[in-house]
Parts: sequence; structure tokens; C-alpha cells
Amino acid sequence: MNAALRELIDALSRGEALTEAAFEALIERRDAEAAALLRRYAVKARKAVYGEAVYTRGLIEISNHCKNDCLYCGIRRSNANVKRYRLTQAEIIACAEEGHALGFRTFVLQGGEDAWYTDERLCAIIHALKSRFPDSAVTLSLGERGRASFQRLYDAGADRYLLRHETADPEHYARLHPPEMRFEHRMRCLHDLREIGYQVGCGFMVGSPFQTAKQLAKDLAFIQAFRPEMCGIGPFIPHSDTPFRDCAAGTLKLTLYLLSILRLIDPTVLLPATTALGTIHPGGRELGIEAGANVVMPNLSPVAVRKDYALYDNKICTGEESAQCRHCLDARMRSIGYHLTVDRGDVKRTTIKGE
Ligand code: 5AD
Ligand code: FES
Repeated sequence: MNAALRELIDALSRGEALTEAAFEALIERRDAEAAALLRRYAVKARKAVYGEAVYTRGLIEISNHCKNDCLYCGIRRSNANVKRYRLTQAEIIACAEEGHALGFRTFVLQGGEDAWYTDERLCAIIHALKSRFPDSAVTLSLGERGRASFQRLYDAGADRYLLRHETADPEHYARLHPPEMRFEHRMRCLHDLREIGYQVGCGFMVGSPFQTAKQLAKDLAFIQAFRPEMCGIGPFIPHSDTPFRDCAAGTLKLTLYLLSILRLIDPTVLLPATTALGTIHPGGRELGIEAGANVVMPNLSPVAVRKDYALYDNKICTGEESAQCRHCLDARMRSIGYHLTVDRGDVKRTTIKGE
């Protein structure tokens, strides 16, 4: 690690904002020593805000119908090999019942962009969840919708919204998505969600096709400026029924490196060690936590549909019951000296950046 790189890492650890060029240098010139230093700083920063607590979110994959055709995604509309399903309100509530009994206090409803889930249907589901589990947060991860729809879902009780920006570079965005999907609209959605009052999550895939250090630097600069409450990153993993089937997967090392940087950009950010990270390496999620992440999202979807929600190949946890995943993650976190917490796990934003 040269002196310039060390200085960038030290600046980041002091809570200073970096320029896009500095982020690019940080990524391009990375080595094992830099990664280790970032990891140490990131763990210290996370510990100051969250201690050794790892937040859990119960993920309910409500539908694999999707009107979009993202080139990287296994449930893209043109993949005719997907067995499509959608969960009814009763099925979603049953998943949440099971999750609540297991200690989950955040439910994430994730799905493709499926018009069957009208505002009416979603509002009814959110209402039912919030009245049954008033101690729990409801997070939505249902893609792009109009502002009025976001507002209605918020008014019905939704607390948080996850919408990965996927890449902060418009040209890169255009290479990952069909022409009808607009980078500007995605960014518009994120700003609308924020204005409405949601706790907002953005994020991107690491090692997605065509991605350069410059584009990753743009992602980091965007996140630094936008300051999302949550940030989901995980390695890109090819799906065999997509145009990117022969592309290489993102690496463990780079994902961990970026997790540490994100923790330092905002020590309070909620940062999941994702299922994709656990898929490319058997200890991926543990290593993610040890690099600065503080959230895990075990699957609460009915086992009967899990294999059908395959965004990428070889996804883990598709055969396990909710309780198995819960206990497995509990044991995994304990094995590295952390523990799962059972509260809602809202972002702790009392710490001012740089203090
Ligand atoms: N590999 C890794 N992550 C993927 N996602 C979609 N397809 C893949 C893939 N092939 C991510 C996207 C999306 C989130 C729900 O899953 O970033 O926003
Ligand atoms: Fe699902 Fe380990 S977390 S089996």
C-alpha cells in the first residue's frame, strides 16, 4: 500500500468525504494491506454505532412475475423457463406469522414488478401486517412505481423501501437494462421515496458485466451524497437463462472491500451481508459482517416457491425452512463473536458523521 492510498483510507476513517477520483484510486490501487486496514477501520466504526448486534430482516419473496427484462436477472420476463408464482395475502401473512414467532421484527416484501399487486392489494397486505404485528417494520422491495403509489403504500404503513440503483453511471445502466428502463426514472423513484418519508435503500451489484473502477467510484460518490439508510450490495452471479450467462461472477474480495468503504462513508448505514455473498463463498456472509456489514436477511418464503425465485444460479437456502435459516444464521454469527438482534433495527442516525 503506498502513502497516497493510506492517506485516502485514513481520510475516509476520519469521516471526510472523498471525490469520485479518490474513490476510483481507492478501488484501482487496492491490495491486501489496504483491504485489511479498511476492514479494521470499518469494524471499529460499526462497533461504535451498533456494537456486535446484527440485525435480521425476514425476506418474503412475494412474486417472481416481472414486467421487466433486466439482462442480468433470472426472473426477467423473457425467461420462459421460470415457473411463475405469486403469494396471496393469506400466504404472506402466514410467512410473517412464522417469522414473528422466530423473532423477526422487520418483514421485507420483495418481488418482481408485478402489476397484479395493485395499490389496493398492497395496501391491504401492509395494513394486515401492521395491525397484526404493530412492533414490526414493513419494508418493500417491489421495484419502480409511480410517486402516488409510493405515497399510498407509505400511508398504509410501509416504513422502508429498497430499490437498488444498480449502477450510478447512465451508460452502464443502459448496458444492463432494456431501453425502456430509464436510469433517470430509477433515480427519480429514489428521490421520491426519500421525500415521502421512507427509510430508503439503494445499492448495486459488484462485478456486473462491463463494470469499471470508475463506475464503482460513481456508485460510491452517489451513495456518499444520497446517504441512504440502507445499502444492498452483493456480487453479480450469472444466471444460465440470461444473456449474461457466460459473464464472470463478482468476487468476494472486491465485495468485502466495498462493504468496508461503505461502512466508512456512513458508519450508521444498514449494510446487509447478502445471500449472493453467501452463494459465492460458503463463509461469505460471515466475512461480510467482518468487513463492516451489520444486517442479514434470512428467507421466510414458503419452501415450495423458493427455487422459483432464482435471480442467479446456485442460490443458497432454497431448500431450508425459515426456522432452519434463522438458526443457521444465529450459529454463523455466534461463531464469529456476533449475535442476531430481534428489534426492528432502525437506522441509528444520532451519530454525526465525522464525530
Ligand atoms: N446476480 C446478483 N444479483 C442480482 N440481482 C438481480 N440479478 C442478479 C444476479 N444475476 C440483484 C439486483 C436486484 C436485486 C433484487 O437482486 O441488484 O436489485
Ligand atoms: Fe439459510 Fe444457512 S442461512 S441455511
